[in-house]
Amino acid sequence: MKIAVVGTGYVGLVTGACLAKVGHTVSCVDIDQEKIKKLKKGIIPIYEPGLDKVVKEVAKKGKLVFDISLKKVLPDVEAIFIAVGTPAKKDGKADLQYVHAVAKEIGENIKDFKVIINKSTVPVGTAKEVKNIILKTYKGKFAVVSNPEFLKEGYAVTDFMKPDRIVIGCDDKQAKKIMQEIYKPVKGKKVFTTVQSAEMIKYASNAFLATKISFINEIANLCEKVNADVKEVSHGMGLDQRIGKSFLSAGIGYGGSCFPKDTSALNQIAGTKGYDFRLLKAVIEVNAKQRQSVIDKLEQIFGNLKNKRIAVLGLAFKNNTDDVRESAAIDIIRMLTGVGARVKAYDPKANDNAKEILNSGVKITNDPYEAIKNADALVIATEWPEFANLDFHKIKNLLKQPIIIDGRNLLNSIIIKKLGFQYYGIGRA
Ligand SMILES: NC(=O)c1ccc[n+]([C@@H]2O[C@H](COP(=O)([O-])OP(=O)(O)OC[C@H]3O[C@@H](n4cnc5c(N)ncnc54)[C@H](O)[C@@H]3O)[C@@H](O)[C@H]2O)c1
Repeated sequence: MKIAVVGTGYVGLVTGACLAKVGHTVSCVDIDQEKIKKLKKGIIPIYEPGLDKVVKEVAKKGKLVFDISLKKVLPDVEAIFIAVGTPAKKDGKADLQYVHAVAKEIGENIKDFKVIINKSTVPVGTAKEVKNIILKTYKGKFAVVSNPEFLKEGYAVTDFMKPDRIVIGCDDKQAKKIMQEIYKPVKGKKVFTTVQSAEMIKYASNAFLATKISFINEIANLCEKVNADVKEVSHGMGLDQRIGKSFLSAGIGYGGSCFPKDTSALNQIAGTKGYDFRLLKAVIEVNAKQRQSVIDKLEQIFGNLKNKRIAVLGLAFKNNTDDVRESAAIDIIRMLTGVGARVKAYDPKANDNAKEILNSGVKITNDPYEAIKNADALVIATEWPEFANLDFHKIKNLLKQPIIIDGRNLLNSIIIKKLGFQYYGIGRA
């Protein structure tokens, strides 16, 4: 099938490349001319393991092309995925301006039946809004479907190819057939729902995962007070199949381009309907507070942090990605510099993205040991496995004081303590 994907970010590019890999012919469209220029040259603008290979393979076969004009590719395709950003506005609501702009462009250029598929995360009712925008300029038949995306950055290609489920909110028979055809080659349970339920499933899923994280972080904070170890506690809890192991790692809180904005948006949706979503509000509050635990630990050790040199390992919001949006590491660096500390940081993939958003007072190095040299303490802020394999003998010699705050409980605390470090995890005995 011929398909257009609008937006070539983490979701759009993965969707386009993977749909081409399973046999469709895909045009990926983006208004960012630089991005499209790079993609046409075979340069992938984001770090996402395995994506490079898929894009190159399908582009070579002519199954995936890139364009800046939706108008140009529209006549040829049966289905259009909308995968543009839906960032949070200041008040926490989802900013739908990019989705609306694409809907307007489709309305102005559509000439026959198309299925318009919303892959962006959007509030319940957005499919209807998209439909109304298109209807302003096009009176023919078309369908708007909700098909939220559940991929995890860092594992996006695998998640797309082998999803736990594919949720399709669809009220139109012809569109349902087209959706079945699009996803026929992808293994994974297809769940057909109403459009509104599909839109809600995405927010409910992310809010639930965020709740698990905030819950275990609260348990971690309590563990510190009762001398229990949250790693042992979460292991013991996670073996219960009703609970499950995932999303039970205590740390400095969730970040990224999805959980913070999606929890805020869901809270806003509830508010506009006069519903007080108390649990979700607590989840958001606990998460914001969790960053502070690193600063608190350092202040307990040093008192005042003014002019203290702190090395921070990790800038990405999690490992295996270069994405620094809403990263806890970035928040912590800002909090540290806010109280006068001097920060040197390192990340294996996210240095360039971090430089764009951090002020120039924060030194970012290309070598972890360079960041650590002469620091008063080391903070681990992202769970890159390679940090656990660093030479800790060398680190002990480089640090002014052998102090480690492990914000991700990544290191083996017993070994690290044996090496002579003062080790502080999150929720560790
Ligand atoms: N990143 C994730 O892990 C993830 C996972 C699931 C769902 N989502 C959701 O998917 C959506 C996209 O997220 P993302 O991380 O890929 O965003 P992104 O910011 O990485 O990419 C969005 C892209 O859309 C392009 N764009 C904006 N307006 C456009 C227009 N009018 N025409 C063409 N292109 C346009 C931008 O230039 C950008 O390249 C969001 O709603 C997000 O919440 C993201």
